[in-house]
Amino acid sequence: MKCVQWVKIVFCLILAALSVYLFVVSCGVEYPILIAREHVRFRQEMPTMDSWINSPFGKLKNYVFNVTNAEEFRSGRDKRLKVQEIGPIVYKIVGFNDILERNATNVKYSKHRYHSVEFLPEESVAPDVLNWTITSTNNVMLGAATKLKHMAPLSAFGFDATFMMEDMFITDTIYYFLWEFTRPLLQALSKMSNMRANVAVLHNALKDKEEIYTVNIGPERGIENFFRIETLNDEVIIREQLPHTKRYTPDQCPFNVTGALDNSLYPPFIQPDTPLDIVAIESCRVLPLTYQRQERYNGLDAFRYTLLKVNQTPPACLSTSYGIKLPDGMFDVSQCVINDAPSAFSMPHFYGSGYNWSEHYEGYTPNAEDHEPYILLEPVTGIPVMERYRFQSNIPIPDLRWFSSKLTRFSHMMIPSFWYEFEMGQLPGFVTALMWINVNVVQHMQPYCMGLFLLVAMWSVLKAIRVACGGIGYVGLFRKVCCGDMGTVTALETKFPAANLSLAVAVK
Ligand SMILES: *[C@@H]1O[C@H](CO)[C@@H](O)[C@H](O)[C@H]1NC(C)=O
Ligand SMILES: *[C@@H]1O[C@H](CO)[C@@H](O)[C@H](O)[C@H]1NC(C)=O
Ligand SMILES: *[C@@H]1O[C@H](CO)[C@@H](O)[C@H](O)[C@H]1NC(C)=O
Ligand SMILES: *[C@@H]1O[C@H](CO)[C@@H](O)[C@H](O)[C@H]1NC(C)=O
Ligand SMILES: *[C@@H]1O[C@H](CO)[C@@H](O)[C@H](O)[C@H]1NC(C)=O
Ligand SMILES: *[C@@H]1O[C@H](CO)[C@@H](O)[C@H](O)[C@H]1NC(C)=O
Repeated sequence: MKCVQWVKIVFCLILAALSVYLFVVSCGVEYPILIAREHVRFRQEMPTMDSWINSPFGKLKNYVFNVTNAEEFRSGRDKRLKVQEIGPIVYKIVGFNDILERNATNVKYSKHRYHSVEFLPEESVAPDVLNWTITSTNNVMLGAATKLKHMAPLSAFGFDATFMMEDMFITDTIYYFLWEFTRPLLQALSKMSNMRANVAVLHNALKDKEEIYTVNIGPERGIENFFRIETLNDEVIIREQLPHTKRYTPDQCPFNVTGALDNSLYPPFIQPDTPLDIVAIESCRVLPLTYQRQERYNGLDAFRYTLLKVNQTPPACLSTSYGIKLPDGMFDVSQCVINDAPSAFSMPHFYGSGYNWSEHYEGYTPNAEDHEPYILLEPVTGIPVMERYRFQSNIPIPDLRWFSSKLTRFSHMMIPSFWYEFEMGQLPGFVTALMWINVNVVQHMQPYCMGLFLLVAMWSVLKAIRVACGGIGYVGLFRKVCCGDMGTVTALETKFPAANLSLAVAVK
């Protein structure tokens, strides 16, 4: 035999052995699990790592309300406030996750959600919207009255004297309300105490908060525990809720972050009944996700989850704000906003809340399409593909009967300060492509691959035999095998009786 023949034979036998090996290995594993085990190792070299490090990214769309009948309300001619929504006022947001430590089972990182914030004039309702003038309720005065009513109920008289100079409405630019809102009294107080003078909503909402997560990674911790939180800021309890741990049990108060997620990545292979909670850092709580339905997005089948359910009763520890019982569909956030101001979150326009806003307002248009917050999650990879994270911040007003008449009129109202929507940006094309391959190819390819390995194994063994027989074709081989006409050629395994040779090949 020539050297070339030997090389061919050896090559074919190696190929056969490799295919058989791959086939045998494939019998013992599931490809999707194999891929998921690699994914949860969360390696630095992962192609999706860059996209995660520079997340969250997207647009922050803000909406404010202009009171259009301030005069009529002040004079008592109108019983209800007429409001007009103005927005969106859009900012581009790019976050940053800074990995501090990592080992096989944990990664610790610091999240900076508002690493970069840039106004997008062209995407806003008008390029000069920040210069528009609106009229708003005097939320500093109303917040202070609410707080005082709770802490020192007899102080109403002193309060009125202090706020004599303050009007109940303020007219200024949108920029002022979003970024620079302050009152003379606040400025005075901030010099004497740790009160903050600037209570503008965006100025405070976009301040960097300390967010250091330690989360599970790696197959050792279980694929189903991937990215589930161990600690936040080295604690298991959300810092702002610590006072609640004395009075409430964990099922009455969502303060334990163990097993929750930071909403950047989720474990793979999610089912509709997989328990998922996220840390909602802006409201200092853990927020359970509620599975709604499947939804198609960008060629992927995603699960849709809502953040708040319609008329959901708030957890016991978040059901009052400064002694005011909150209606369903709202929850208290005063312990985590600037100056501990009385405030409660709801869905925008009071959608899905028990507050009968039409007693006090005209002009809200609550609806699920525009106001329900949701997340679309691709369940096989556990990667969020779309998100509209929406909340409205409100000041709940108690009974202000003993205060001056201008304040009394606001009794029992909910005063919205603004609402916002964080719309997650499109994932980079190659991330979506990888997800698509994972969902549509990897999940189904195992039988085909295993079949292919068998075929290759069979073909290469036959090829080796044919080469050994002097380069005969399949017909020649068939004839030889059937008629026992093996000739004088040094063939492989020619000692086998005919019927048993073909069997041996088939088994391989
Ligand atoms: C807000 O309402 C006032 C009173 O109706 C009106 O004059 C003003 O133009 C409104 N602002 C905007 C930005 O529409
Ligand atoms: C990884 O680090 C965490 C703390 O960050 C520690 O609790 C854990 O034991 C470490 N695991 C290994 C395998 O070293
Ligand atoms: C808004 O007003 C300020 C000061 O009046 C001016 O400098 C700025 O150019 C205005 N911006 C727009 C977009 O009109
Ligand atoms: C938090 O939850 C975890 C898991 O449910 C539990 O093991 C842990 O004891 C809880 N910690 C506190 C302080 O409640
Ligand atoms: C809500 O308030 C409006 C206006 O006062 C009233 O007509 C309506 O009956 C109230 N709805 C409920 C459910 O109380
Ligand atoms: C195949 O080989 C086995 C022994 O390994 C033998 O018992 C059997 O008779 C053979 N079959 C034929 C068809 O020759």
